[in-house]
Amino acid sequence: MPSFPTFPQNCKSLLCKHLTPKIFELLKDKATANGFTLYDAIRSGVDNPDSGIGVYAGDLESYSLFAPLLDPIIEEYHGFGKIDSHKSDLDPNHLNAPNPDPNDEFILSTRIRVGRNIKDMPLGPAITKAQRDKIEADISSALSSLDGWLSGSYYSLQGMSEDVKAKLIEDHFLFKAGDRFLESAGLNRDWPTGRGIFHNDEKTFLVWINEEDQLRIISMQMGGDILEVFTRLTVAISQIEKSVSFAYSDHLGYITSCPTNLGTAMRASVHIKLPKLSKNMDKFQTICDKYHLQIRGIHGEHSESEGGVYDISNKRRLGVTEVRCVQDMYDGVTELISVEKGL
Ligand code: ARG
Repeated sequence: MPSFPTFPQNCKSLLCKHLTPKIFELLKDKATANGFTLYDAIRSGVDNPDSGIGVYAGDLESYSLFAPLLDPIIEEYHGFGKIDSHKSDLDPNHLNAPNPDPNDEFILSTRIRVGRNIKDMPLGPAITKAQRDKIEADISSALSSLDGWLSGSYYSLQGMSEDVKAKLIEDHFLFKAGDRFLESAGLNRDWPTGRGIFHNDEKTFLVWINEEDQLRIISMQMGGDILEVFTRLTVAISQIEKSVSFAYSDHLGYITSCPTNLGTAMRASVHIKLPKLSKNMDKFQTICDKYHLQIRGIHGEHSESEGGVYDISNKRRLGVTEVRCVQDMYDGVTELISVEKGL
């Protein structure tokens, strides 16, 4: 085990904030049943001092074994305390979300995803190639048995033809090998084997297999009908759950490789055009903070905005229900639109 890592002076990650020499000494020789060590958990944040968070879990056990480090990080990111317990609510009847932009003036598209991992399997950072391949086989076969509007096709990344690839890129469905954060976390191992994409014929329901999490279940469409997107997602999840068991804990909710995704593992987002408000970033940020929202560029995480179009999504995922995550996003987006209109 290497010695206590050094971080640059200007490092702002939650890892460098919460990893004290004392915690390091306490945890440095521990490993989970899958052989995942403290150093495996922190490697991404050590290699990438510009991380916001900087840690990943190899399995459910990582969250208890390395709790002295991970709990304060989870608490700070989600505002979720040790004694709290997580509650799920995937009932669309509990969401109040009439389309905030019925004339399609601001919202370009809506996308809601959840991360899921298979019960009793290591998470991506600690998984073996054989386990990953088995997950691909099991999930893709479960997906191919879906019927009605959920039915579609699975495209394995390995050996993908140029035609299929071009088509998936055009639809913005293809995912690439992970960035340097995921690389250091071990999530790019054996790329591209075991990875792939399923989507339904209408291209509104999508599943990524073995990206950062074993499943990313995605519902998306053009425009701002957030309720319709959420409803479709919940139907898809319950259909998949008929043949697949997901990793879940009463305390942490759905178990994910990155602690930011714990709980609901849900990111509910819109691409929204705010050319006026975005000239005043302080005001824009203040509204987003009020509703616990995150501002991103439209080419994914760590990207810049283009043409006044932003990706707005819920930031909290743990200790709040799925309905709350979507409601936060909905309420914030409604206010953003009304402020933009008034400028
Ligand atoms: N590990 C990266 C960081 O700390 C990403 C964290 C959140 N994003 C994610 N895709 N899990 O900045």
